[in-house]
Amino acid sequence: MAEQGLHEDVSVKLLAWYDAHARDLPWRAKRGVKPDPYHVWLSEIMLQQTTVAAVKDYYIKFLSRWPTVSDLAKASQEDVLRAWAGLGYYARARNLHACAIKVVSDWNGKFPDTEEALRSLPGIGPYTAAAIAAIAFDRPHAAVDGNVERVMARVYAIETPLPAAKPLIKLKAQALVPEKRAGDFAQALMDLGATICTPRSPNCKICPWTDECKGRALGIAESLPRKAPKVKIPTRLGIAFWVERDDGHILLRQRPQKGLLGGMMEIPSTPWEAKLPRNVAGPFEAEWTKLKTTVEHTFTHFHLQLNVWKTTTTEMSLPDGSGYRWVHKDELTHEALPSLMRKVVVAALADRPRLRKAG
Ligand code: ADE
Repeated sequence: MAEQGLHEDVSVKLLAWYDAHARDLPWRAKRGVKPDPYHVWLSEIMLQQTTVAAVKDYYIKFLSRWPTVSDLAKASQEDVLRAWAGLGYYARARNLHACAIKVVSDWNGKFPDTEEALRSLPGIGPYTAAAIAAIAFDRPHAAVDGNVERVMARVYAIETPLPAAKPLIKLKAQALVPEKRAGDFAQALMDLGATICTPRSPNCKICPWTDECKGRALGIAESLPRKAPKVKIPTRLGIAFWVERDDGHILLRQRPQKGLLGGMMEIPSTPWEAKLPRNVAGPFEAEWTKLKTTVEHTFTHFHLQLNVWKTTTTEMSLPDGSGYRWVHKDELTHEALPSLMRKVVVAALADRPRLRKAG
């Protein structure tokens, strides 16, 4: 019982802090207004692996273009991918669209209001289901993401490294969830982690939990959470082929639906492997010049270094193979080009080729 009382105090303190200091975010319902589950879901999917700052404009754009889940369900996948371009992790965009379609077909256009039913929808894993159930429906679930893990590890001075500490952290967070205002509590923890209990130099002086924080009492808060050493990720290499027609059209190709960046557009490239291919085959037989810059991009499981080879052509037809299209340079911003490919476009447009034959 004493333990329960302690938890209540701790939660009440955080909610009071949230009432005074909540961040003003476009997807947040104003006080006293019921949140719209579509808004909560859309923001949570966008915020997976992405920062609040990067998400804001995309969220506003999506909502003005597709104001309801039914509108989004009616959109073409291509339009959704295009609008998503630049946010990364494109499986999320495909799942977002699939989820909207399912909510309309199986749930009559209304998001289900339990964590379990939410989990059955495409793109909604344990964290997102808990976050939506709490924020949209005030269900008493703890939504534990990286920020919340940090806060919990510090408050309870959990020195077991991540990821082994995850189950304990989840239990500790769940024990703090108040019966009422679970949604505000979830968002308060996110805000605390993002604004005060930051990875470096946490601002403990103004933290609502400064008195109860065991990590602070022990002088180890900033060093938490401990993390198991990172496994080094491999580097892969490839060549992207920038083919420019003399009327300013650029050769693009749609990637296969399955796999990394599935369904997105790309500057045609070789496979990305540990070594560059020995016999390089571009989309056309041509004289290629190699750009000075190498485009680098890090995916979850590997780093990529792409060389860019350029050529010009008067050829109007498309190369053999599927998915090729000519798109004018000025129209490239409207294409579903992932960040990596946008980097290739910038490099190709900026770089002056050396007068050296590369292959
Ligand atoms: N990160 C994940 N979900 C969030 C939310 N709803 N508000 C702020 N940051 C978040």
